[in-house]
Amino acid sequence: MAVKWRFTQIIISLACLTNCSLYAQSIDVLHWWTSSSESKAVEQLKTQLFNQGVFWKDTAIAGGGGMAAVKVLKTKILMGDAPDVAQIIGSTLNEWSDMGVVLPLNRVLEKNKLEATVSHTVLDLITYKNKVIGAPLGVHRINSMLYNKAVLDQLNLAPPTTWADIEILHQRLKGSGVQTIAWSDEPWQINTAFEAILLSEAGAPAYLDLMQKRQEKDWLQAPVLQALNRLQWMRSLSSRQSKPSEKTWSSNTRDLAEGKIALLLMGDWAKGELMSWGYVPNQDFGCTPVPGTSKAHLYSIDTLALLIGNQSNSEVQEKFVETVTGLTAQMNYNKVKGSVPVRRDIDNKTLDVCAKDSWDNFNNPKIIKVPSLAHRMVADEATKDAIAYTLWRSLTAEKTNLKETQIRLATIIRSADNKTKVTQ
Ligand code: GAL
Repeated sequence: MAVKWRFTQIIISLACLTNCSLYAQSIDVLHWWTSSSESKAVEQLKTQLFNQGVFWKDTAIAGGGGMAAVKVLKTKILMGDAPDVAQIIGSTLNEWSDMGVVLPLNRVLEKNKLEATVSHTVLDLITYKNKVIGAPLGVHRINSMLYNKAVLDQLNLAPPTTWADIEILHQRLKGSGVQTIAWSDEPWQINTAFEAILLSEAGAPAYLDLMQKRQEKDWLQAPVLQALNRLQWMRSLSSRQSKPSEKTWSSNTRDLAEGKIALLLMGDWAKGELMSWGYVPNQDFGCTPVPGTSKAHLYSIDTLALLIGNQSNSEVQEKFVETVTGLTAQMNYNKVKGSVPVRRDIDNKTLDVCAKDSWDNFNNPKIIKVPSLAHRMVADEATKDAIAYTLWRSLTAEKTNLKETQIRLATIIRSADNKTKVTQ
């Protein structure tokens, strides 16, 4: 049965290579999910949609964090060739909505009573000027640290809960050939590490203020400089063992799996990647919050926006939203992706141990939820990029003056677009 079904899918895919209009129910989706776990997660959505008679036609643009995909999307829209659906996330949804290219989804949400089941933080994020403008897929945790269990067990060390623990691990690993902590000079990865460290140094309430109020004077305070110092220290740990380079997040994850690296500070899509290769949480690897952030959930929520294009078919688009936010798609997709469902009506006992911790924290009113800047939850695309490149330039320069870097960041924040908003 499964083989027959897969065969039908392949035939339709081949037909779609030449003329997809043969199938009225086909939908173009532009996204940046190309790694092992990301592609498998997309397969889960495709399957659910296919069961509903909707064919997902893929435009996948490689590049972690979506830097390349967003550029392609802009060009396509400007050329009047908008896909039906695009991975547009966080506050950048607002920018596209203001340009009039995003289809409001209020009717589908009401019809499916999603207001009652989707987490409030998620609902707030996808609502702009009273319009719901994104189909929410999953919640990623950015303040997540993975460790290779065998490496720590061999040294008889518990998973690090403080930065000092990481320093101890670093000393113990001297001469072993194992790198203490993963590093990449890709700007978006530097930005991802920076915000998790900033959360640790500032604490959740102050982090929220830095992002929400965007006061230049706050960005000139001690925690920001401390975070920059900590970031530079983290890079120096890895450069003792290997030359820093723009390694992809998936390749660092592979090195963690193979015991070449002990720790990886990365959004929990890296956990999804490990699981897609057959590694098991709590057996081969573990997950723990980034030191000093266990009382907070630094989130990035993946959403798909439905675009208004020449060929738009809002009926199919609405069926699309209904399906991807449905319980089955939510469970199947998120289990592979490494994120957790946006719905509150799930059985959390069926989640893996890392996902359960993330979901429980995200849905616990006592835990402060803070938005990711590196992943567009709280700033427009230009501000996010300016911060990422400022950090990159500062860390990779021959001589670095972190005080100057801090002043540059504060200046960027002062001029940031204030259309974006923060939810909690
Ligand atoms: C994030 C996205 C995740 C994951 C990651 C790495 O921006 O939200 O789903 O794909 O990039 O590419």
